[in-house]
Order: sequence, then structure tokens, then C-alpha cells
Amino acid sequence: MAADRIDMLQASLPFYQWYGASPHSRRAGEPGVVDLLFGNPHDMPIPAYVEALRRHAEPQNSSWYAYMLDHPAATEVVARDLTAHTGLPWDRDDVAMTTGGWGAIATAIRMLTDPGDEVIYYDPPWFFYDILVRGAEAVPVVLTLQAPRFSPDPDQLAAAITPRTRAVILNTPHNPSGRVLDDSELAAVAEVLSDASARHGRPIHLLSDEAYRLIVMDGRRSASPAEHYEHTLVLYSYGKQLLAPGQRIGYLAISPRIGLAERQALRQAATVTRFVSSWGFPNNVLQRALPDIAHLCIDMGAIQRRRDHLVPVLEEHGYEPTMPEGTFYVMARSPDPDDEAFVARLAAQDLYVLPGSTVNMPGWFRISLTGSDAMVEEAARRVPGLRASR
Ligand SMILES: Cc1ncc(COP(=O)(O)O)c(C=O)c1O
Repeated sequence: MAADRIDMLQASLPFYQWYGASPHSRRAGEPGVVDLLFGNPHDMPIPAYVEALRRHAEPQNSSWYAYMLDHPAATEVVARDLTAHTGLPWDRDDVAMTTGGWGAIATAIRMLTDPGDEVIYYDPPWFFYDILVRGAEAVPVVLTLQAPRFSPDPDQLAAAITPRTRAVILNTPHNPSGRVLDDSELAAVAEVLSDASARHGRPIHLLSDEAYRLIVMDGRRSASPAEHYEHTLVLYSYGKQLLAPGQRIGYLAISPRIGLAERQALRQAATVTRFVSSWGFPNNVLQRALPDIAHLCIDMGAIQRRRDHLVPVLEEHGYEPTMPEGTFYVMARSPDPDDEAFVARLAAQDLYVLPGSTVNMPGWFRISLTGSDAMVEEAARRVPGLRASR
């Protein structure tokens, strides 16, 4: 790849540049460090998860570790779960297993675009949408979700669509705002996309990033955009519900509301795209284990308790925090307009959070509730003094 192209791709990842200069990678894991930076685990993994991995790593025949594309046990469980969640009749042949949600997003973008095609996504985004779109030689078109509702504006979306628009990425529950879009918001997006698809004579695909579908609070259900829009691909990661993001398994699922001939073309595209992207299939131990791990989830009660402990303290001290409905994250306003400077001052006290500027939200910072109870309690204790930290 040409050096200027590598520079351009790296520039599209402000998070990576910021992180390179952060002391976090050296200090994480040391005693006394309050690490609320990433959605990483800080408690031991779910025992049943570890047990399932152990069981399925044990070979039962000579081909246990043979090459494998999509394992039927995995695609079957995905189709069944999506059917139960959405009420639509998902077909396991429409499920493409991927190396995490990341692999699903990368596969979807690549399989739907040619160089110069446009992909719409929303700010604040997941860090890697931009580089994945540009890496596929497509063109990112960025719309904004305004605080405090972080709701997609249908008129803004309609105005952004052109004859080159191939896909719109929508993330709900939304990292980093914690918003879970409701049915009326999803229906409004669907209406815009249906009209624009009809007008341009080809479908605009909705790439539904549902990595946090089960990471919801207060008894909520996170509706899938697939319930509202026909041309949807659901993109999923098991890394969030299992809080095991280094054990990479996820999927891309093609909506059963798409006609069969078109689904067959999309299946073929998903397979070929995974071939050309470094064997984009998850390893077979994880695929075999999926029926045993697909229904495990971290303790959402603990995540919610941490939210309910921290958010009122932030509110009391003027940080105007979000009250997440889902995901692991709380966003709050930085007392210093230079959020990176504020975050660096916290890092000097071994308290790590993410500056909002890395997700195009300058003047904010993000706190991850995947820190242990002790870390979140310590952060809450320090909040009153943080504003003054210099
Ligand atoms: C919104 C969103 N989508 C997708 C992903 C990718 O998930 P994974 O790394 O488990 O593939 C993440 C991970 O942080 C995310 O936050």
C-alpha cells in the first residue's frame, strides 16, 4: 500500500493516534490503576463460558481442527436467536460467521461497495467505521447525532443520500451515547431508505450494528432495525455479551425479508469477501462452542448498579452525563474544553477514561462501566476533586 494511503488511513483513526501517546498500555493492570478506558473485562470471565471453550477444544475426532467455513451448529443458533428476537423467519443459510462484529462490519462494507461508492455513518461513531469504509475504497458520508437525544434526523439522512449511496450504518444500542433507538425512530429511518431506494432504482442496505443488543438496562429490549426495514444486514459480536472481545466471533445475517435470488447473491458475496479478507471465518472451537455460549451474558445488574452509582455523582458535580439505556458507556462533559488535556491530567493520577475527541465529540469524555466495582467506586470518590485537577 502506498505510504500516502497508509497516512490517510491512519489519519482517519484519531483514536489510534491519541492512544499511541497515552501511558495506558504501560500502566493498565498495575495495582491502584482505575481503568475505565475500554470495554475490556476487569473481572474473571463467565465460568460457563470458560468451561464451554475447554469442552469444545477437546478433539472428538481426527477432523476436529480441520478447515471450516460456517459451522451449521453456529449458523443454526444464530438463525434461531434472531427469529426469537425479531419475529422474522431467519434462515441459517443467510448467516455468515465472522471474526467478531468487526469482521461482520468489514465484510458488509466490502461486499456492498465498489471504489467511489458512498457509505453513510453517524457521528459519534465506533472508532473504526471510517477506516473500514476508506479501506474498502468507498467514501464515508458522516451525519451527526445531536446530544442529548442522539437520534437520527430523517431529513438530514434523506438529504445525504445520492445515487452512489450503497449503505447506511446504524448502531443501536449506541456506543458511546448509550441510546437505544425506539420503534418510531427506526421506522423513520426505514421510511427514508425505502423512498430513496425506490427513487434510485436499487436498494440501499441498512447495516445494523447490534453489537450491544443484549447490553441493555432497566428491562429494555433493543429492537432490531431489521424489524422495520427490508434490506437490512444484522452485524453482531459476541464479544460484548460475553465480555471477551479477544475471543473473536460474530456474524453477518441477511434479512429474510429480502427476496431469495438477492439473498443468494448476498450469501455468495459474503463468502467471497471473507476469502479475500484473510479467512474471515471464526476459528472452529468458537463456532462449535456457540450453542453453549450464545445465551450467556455478563451480569447486567452489575453494569446498571455501576451506572446508578456514578451518574448521580457526575450530575451533582456539573458533568452533564448521559444516562445510558444500553452499552457499557457513560459520556460526560469535560470541565476543560480541551478534553485530551483533561483526560491526560486524570491519567497522571492513574485514572483512565477516553477523550471524546477520539470519537468526534470534543469537550466530552467516555467512561466504561466494565471497570470492576472497586474501580467505579474509586472513580466516583474522586469525582468531586477532578474538576480542580491541574
Ligand atoms: C459499536 C461497536 N460495533 C462493533 C464493535 C466491534 O466488536 P468486536 O471488536 O467484538 O468485533 C464494537 C467494539 O467495540 C463496537 O463498540
